[in-house]
Amino acid sequence: MHIPVLLNEILRYLDPKPGDNFIDCTVGEGGHALAILKMTAPNGKLIGIDRDADMVERLRARAKDMGVGERFIIHHGNFADIRKISEGYDFYKVNGALFDFGMSSWQIDESGMGFSFQNIEPLDMRYDRTKNTPTAANIINSWPEASLARIIYEFGEERYSRRIAKEIVMARKKEHITTTDELVRIIFRAVPRVRAGKPGIHFATRTFQAFRIAINMELENVEAGLEEAIYRVEIGGKVAAISFHSLEDRIVKNTFKKYSRPRELEGGVYFNRAEGGVVKIITKKPVKPAAEEIFENPRARSAKLRVSEKVSA
Ligand SMILES: C[S@@+](CC[C@H](N)C(=O)[O-])C[C@H]1O[C@@H](n2cnc3c(N)ncnc32)[C@H](O)[C@@H]1O
Repeated sequence: MHIPVLLNEILRYLDPKPGDNFIDCTVGEGGHALAILKMTAPNGKLIGIDRDADMVERLRARAKDMGVGERFIIHHGNFADIRKISEGYDFYKVNGALFDFGMSSWQIDESGMGFSFQNIEPLDMRYDRTKNTPTAANIINSWPEASLARIIYEFGEERYSRRIAKEIVMARKKEHITTTDELVRIIFRAVPRVRAGKPGIHFATRTFQAFRIAINMELENVEAGLEEAIYRVEIGGKVAAISFHSLEDRIVKNTFKKYSRPRELEGGVYFNRAEGGVVKIITKKPVKPAAEEIFENPRARSAKLRVSEKVSA
């Protein structure tokens, strides 16, 4: 079961009231969504978007017994398309939007799609497996060594990126790399023994993160999704985003910052507005889970929440 991260904090910042409408841009197992729907009864609606069609099917099946009926719209799609998706449901009065990036517990533990280096699974790692897009195995077995090194460095912030890329290229000359355990062994051979045996972050974490980000184009989507959400919520509405690594958090921080400044008009001329930009940043510093939450749900340990409020169109 997926335990929603920073749930109390999300409810405090989004402050759902009866009749309010929300978009949960990463609905997953519906943990945050259901808590919001309880507070917006009897007529508040929520669109829950998820890019993983299996997650969507699982949630649709469970939603039947949740007593929320038509108020809960579950949509398979990419949050980079929030505008189009919400317009498709005539959903214009939106009081808040929530992002909870990363993977759900089901995707990590049970999907069999190679998100976890703890299991032996095919190296797929796509959230959306309904389209004919490359899998992690496709890029691992075909990209030039320099490109592999670059994404492992940029998206994994892995200092041994070049050694890992070299080891991948050597291994794939012998045979195709198809499963998570093969990739873990390759990374193990590439990183120094002291690093591999160190307690704390597992030696394969950063490389797995890098491939997942690359094949899902996660960082581009985060930026586009946040911009679409800022556009879509009404004045006074909030956009809340929980990130799990520094690359995501940096994009959230910079996007909120960009929209909190007076807008730049075409031609580089600034529109001088006394009240500032399109949003006001509510969380000056990111909100982190309390020690009790991390104790109960270790997956929450790296979560950071940032919230902004729309103050002008
Ligand atoms: C951490 S889970 C969300 C869990 C959810 N808040 C809950 O309480 O159950 C993140 C979800 O975001 C989805 N996701 C990732 N990228 C996405 C994107 N670009 N558009 C829509 N959903 C996305 C994943 O498939 C995953 O189900």
